[in-house]
Amino acid sequence: MGKKKRKKRKLKRRQGATAGLAAAADRHECYQKSVQSPQADLDFFCARFAERRSRQPRSLREDFCGTAYLSSHWLRGGAERTALAVDLDPETLAWGELHNLRPDIAERIELRCADVRSISSPKVDLACAMNFSFCVFKQRADLRRYFDAVAEGLADDGVFVCELYGGTEAIVEIEESREVEDFTFTWEQAKYNPITNETLCHIHFTFEDGSRIDKAFTYDWRLWSIPEVRELLEEAGFRSVDVYWEAVDEDGDGTGEHHLSTEEQNQEGWLVLIVAAK
Ligand SMILES: C[S@@+](CC[C@H](N)C(=O)[O-])C[C@H]1O[C@@H](n2cnc3c(N)ncnc32)[C@H](O)[C@@H]1O
Repeated sequence: MGKKKRKKRKLKRRQGATAGLAAAADRHECYQKSVQSPQADLDFFCARFAERRSRQPRSLREDFCGTAYLSSHWLRGGAERTALAVDLDPETLAWGELHNLRPDIAERIELRCADVRSISSPKVDLACAMNFSFCVFKQRADLRRYFDAVAEGLADDGVFVCELYGGTEAIVEIEESREVEDFTFTWEQAKYNPITNETLCHIHFTFEDGSRIDKAFTYDWRLWSIPEVRELLEEAGFRSVDVYWEAVDEDGDGTGEHHLSTEEQNQEGWLVLIVAAK
């Protein structure tokens, strides 16, 4: 195949991504609808915090916050609540500020455009890293540095929650789709390197007229194991690190319910919330 032909094909695909319903859709809105459940996450955080500390948390640090969707729900849950939302990407933060932060909550949040590893103040009760975001750190020393910053940025009785995925299919190059409202969400595991455990994944959105936002989001991650994360959290000074396993239904789909666990059978796909307390 000549170079010219290849170029033409590429151009066609790009046009497809910006036509029809896809052109009018907002990738951040589609993302929030597809992969975020802020209220369920917050209920989990508050329950785990209260079990350990006999009080309710008042301040949240949302690392890798993206559009600060979780923080916006947190702030709506009580007038005494404050949030620090941290992300490297100014465009995503600006979108969140415009769409998620009503004036009545905007004054109780600080949006910080920064590397999460550089943040250790103000000290907060709760910190979180959802949707596997910390997997962006590929070297042990980098992940340790991040967990050190989290530990330093927590109050003396602070609690950190992070989310991790794995399973026999996590290392397979596959695409999985599901319907979300009026579009289809597709998760593509495009590449996996067994020597480094690095994986390259994409999110695509397809609309009813067949138009598509191709590679709406791309993630270049290292797949960490639960014991690796646990050991690094302990090294960073967390006194307890507990694993909450997400239950699955008869089709193997996650139910959104997590239970404290120390032994499970491997699954095609699993998801855990790791709770680390100082
Ligand atoms: C998977 S999204 C998470 C969005 C949202 N918080 C969620 O739970 O779905 C990952 C986000 O992490 C941000 N990010 C990546 N590396 C970062 C770093 N070192 N410090 C701060 N933010 C980072 C990206 O800009 C992106 O918005």
